[in-house]
Amino acid sequence: MKILLTGANGFLGQYLCAMLLAEQHEVIATGKGPCRLPFQQSSFQYHTLDFTSAEQVQTVLDQYEPDIIVHAGAMTQPDQCEQEPEKAYRVNVEGTRHLLSCAVKRAIYFIYISTDFIFDGKQGMYDENAIPGPVNFYGKTKLQAESLVNQYPFDWTIVRTVLVYGKPLAGRNNILTVVKQKLENGEKYRVVSDQVRTPTYVEDLAAGIVKIIEQRAGGLFHISGADILTPFDMAIKTAHFLGLNASLLVNVNADTFSQPAIRPLKTGFNITKARMQLDYQPHSFEEGLRKTFS
Ligand SMILES: NC(=O)c1ccc[n+]([C@@H]2O[C@H](COP(=O)([O-])OP(=O)(O)OC[C@H]3O[C@@H](n4cnc5c(N)ncnc54)[C@H](OP(=O)(O)O)[C@@H]3O)[C@@H](O)[C@H]2O)c1
Repeated sequence: MKILLTGANGFLGQYLCAMLLAEQHEVIATGKGPCRLPFQQSSFQYHTLDFTSAEQVQTVLDQYEPDIIVHAGAMTQPDQCEQEPEKAYRVNVEGTRHLLSCAVKRAIYFIYISTDFIFDGKQGMYDENAIPGPVNFYGKTKLQAESLVNQYPFDWTIVRTVLVYGKPLAGRNNILTVVKQKLENGEKYRVVSDQVRTPTYVEDLAAGIVKIIEQRAGGLFHISGADILTPFDMAIKTAHFLGLNASLLVNVNADTFSQPAIRPLKTGFNITKARMQLDYQPHSFEEGLRKTFS
């Protein structure tokens, strides 16, 4: 299959490219700026694409004529979305609209990557039938993009995920790597203990998307880890695993942070549908931790 990926330079994008290439797919990786990916094989090509430009989207799709689009690119930082709502709307909603309106001309199978932040965080352990209710602007834009995908007249899949972690291949940090940095520098680090998540090992998410592609599994899928943890739990486990000083971790409640974007308190996914339909088997957090620092 010829698969065009947006956000290919991003955290998920880099792992997904690697996995799709390993599965013998042809990958058209796209990103806003220059290529930050290390792949050399002939089945890999990179093209600069800012998907907020309808014209650029049209040109790139005309040039490559992919069978599938995986739209992983987004403005992903909730605080930045809250502070720059017009840009967040342009990137997360309008960008998705441009991709869909070009995809429809060729009936391209469209896969959209979404988030647990479309939920309000009151209940937690959401399945695919749970009712969304975003509490911040990032979540609102991702939900608006989802509803555009929902109206796409050809095959589509929405993959929602939760707090992705793993080894950053090109710089982007996640909670595990931040804990390592802070504690190695002897710095205190405040981590929330009243948010609940099912953290997702990045290779599990990529593998789940590859299974979706192989089965052309349409509709909505919740793909995350299975272990229910707070960020503070994750930080403590990371410190212990790395033999670092866990007493530098300060256990705080979310309301002691004054962040521009509210975070949903309790998310986490019920992944039964993915387990049953895709045979999706995530690693435990302990295994993911080991792989992150291997
Ligand atoms: N990471 C998580 O914990 C998490 C959790 C739930 C859902 N998700 C979703 O998973 C997907 C992948 O996230 P990620 O963790 O890989 O995020 P990421 O590392 O921030 O990657 C997003 C990528 O999108 C690119 N991008 C932003 N605006 C663009 C534009 N206008 N045109 C082209 N590319 C653009 C960024 O380019 P630059 O790098 O050049 O800025 C970046 O490479 C996103 O849809 C996100 O909402 C992630």
